[in-house]
Amino acid sequence: MYDVETVRADFPILSREVNGKPLVYLDNGASAQKPQVVIDAVTNAYSHEYANVHRGLHTLSNIATEKYEGVRGIIARFLNAADEREVVLNTGTTQGINTVAYGWAMPRLEPGDEIILSVMEHHANIVPWHFLRERQGVVIRWVDVDEKGDLDPQAVLDAIGPRTKLIAVTHLSNVLGTVVDVKAICAGARERGVPVLVDGSQGAVHMPVDVQEIGCDFYAITGHKLYGPSGSGAIWIRRERMEEMRPFIGGGDMIREVHKDSVTYAEPPMKFEAGTPGIVQTIGLGVALNYMMGLGVANIAAHEARIAAYAKSRLEGLNWLHVQGRSEGKAAIFSFTLDGAAHPHDLSTILDKKGVAVRAGHHCAGPLMDHLGLTATCRASFGLYNTEAEVDVLVEALELAHDLFA
Ligand SMILES: Cc1ncc(COP(=O)(O)O)c(C=O)c1O
Repeated sequence: MYDVETVRADFPILSREVNGKPLVYLDNGASAQKPQVVIDAVTNAYSHEYANVHRGLHTLSNIATEKYEGVRGIIARFLNAADEREVVLNTGTTQGINTVAYGWAMPRLEPGDEIILSVMEHHANIVPWHFLRERQGVVIRWVDVDEKGDLDPQAVLDAIGPRTKLIAVTHLSNVLGTVVDVKAICAGARERGVPVLVDGSQGAVHMPVDVQEIGCDFYAITGHKLYGPSGSGAIWIRRERMEEMRPFIGGGDMIREVHKDSVTYAEPPMKFEAGTPGIVQTIGLGVALNYMMGLGVANIAAHEARIAAYAKSRLEGLNWLHVQGRSEGKAAIFSFTLDGAAHPHDLSTILDKKGVAVRAGHHCAGPLMDHLGLTATCRASFGLYNTEAEVDVLVEALELAHDLFA
């Protein structure tokens, strides 16, 4: 049984007040809060076990290396990867997708080659492909979402042409909450020999992920949304794709030998991990993922589905509130605007006065905002510790804001 009150007690920040009101933290889509076990692991690593990794032969370096390297296996388990050597540790999704853009796509894509993106991608899964468009004449093909905010896998597959070299698509929209059927996209793409990159920044937070079952080639995650430290993350890369990649960032740790006139590289995944990494951040991420797996990722998803259903019914009752995205199985992420002149920034300021933290802005999703004909929305995004009572506080605060603006 998932006991949300016990879960909440694991997150010290949730007991603080904001503007004299109990904090209602609904900005999990931007970044999630950290459980005490993660905070303790970070403190412990710096207090008792800190040294650089992979380099020393002394005790502390060995402890730090063992803990850091152990996280590869935890991530492999979290994503059900067949081999932990397919896990490249990094600072998060942005770095992961850039690793693929620079390491896999840049050396192989020619002018006129095509990359397919959905219109609801985050800038992290757009701008690296714009670099290829600007610098190499690569063409970006956009696939729209329908009026409910769903992405039809067949529409993605129909966009494949003879020059398509990659499909890059989100698993779960950070704005609409839409869950994308990435498995269907991967199955069709595989038949046509097109690799698929899945941006799992939100997907891995809200549902169990099995990269083998999905059948993708790249799956990017970001630690700070997974209740771990910022500056941690990973990208899972299918072995065959890894073999095709050249290293992206050069420096220490990713080499085998360096001479004046030559350099050879370490075996993957180290080949893609240059320089001193986020040692403690990564150790913290391992603890965060173990925490999630301890609660049960399916249990978390079930809890959030209850919250999503309740939030949907409450928000739908506000006929002056326009919720974007009506996908059937949508996650507990609600972007909305208010009738009248209220700008989402003003709305979020009022909600903040009631202790409710939401995000206002374009959510790093410019093409989706264009598609919706909006410049900004407010977004309430729920996590594993949120409750139905917090939905009620959000609704009360929205009603107050509506009265004020009216
Ligand atoms: C869907 C999606 N992709 C990518 C990112 C980028 O993540 P990061 O900034 O941690 O690299 C985010 C973060 O908001 C996101 O929601």
